[in-house]
Amino acid sequence: MDLKGMIREIQDFPKEGINFKDITTILKDGAAFTYVIDKLAAQLEDLEVDVIVGPEARGFIVGTPVAYKLGKAFVPIRKPGKLPAETVKYEYELEYGTDALEVHKDAIKPGQRVAILDDLLATGGTVLATAKLIEELGGTVVSLNFLIELTFLRGRETLKDYQVKTLVSYNEE
Ligand code: PRP
Ligand code: MG
Repeated sequence: MDLKGMIREIQDFPKEGINFKDITTILKDGAAFTYVIDKLAAQLEDLEVDVIVGPEARGFIVGTPVAYKLGKAFVPIRKPGKLPAETVKYEYELEYGTDALEVHKDAIKPGQRVAILDDLLATGGTVLATAKLIEELGGTVVSLNFLIELTFLRGRETLKDYQVKTLVSYNEE
């Protein structure tokens, strides 16, 4: 399956200089979507994962079908103010300003083994924040799995304490 050939690239979106990787062209192809989910799920087979965690919004798209396929739980990580029960928040620095993510306090039980799934690894900030939230709740992050990696943004350095697996990588903008 030529996944790279199926990912649409949009120049200068959402702003100038960014070559956006659009996965909707994979999602709208049933065979390609199935292939991606099966591949991501296969990477987790031997890890004895209890919970799949995905950050809003595109982490839901890849995370929930993998959880279903493996028969495991899914926990959503959301942007602030969206989760109704008691939450913990993690704030992190962006180039300009800060961003934050939240998880329900009771979403993870201490000792649970967690895999975090997202569509794209860029700087690694989103998934590092997600991992910190899981660890604050007592979970163990055993794997970080992505469809796409932008290697030139060096996300693996940010995520050096974790096992990282990706399906497609881009080495230059
Ligand atoms: C995108 C993408 C990853 C993140 C990667 O999400 O889906 O979650 O950026 O970037 P990073 O490695 O530098 O953190 P975005 O925040 O655009 O939101 P979305 O998933 O809600 O579309
Ligand atoms: Mg995202």
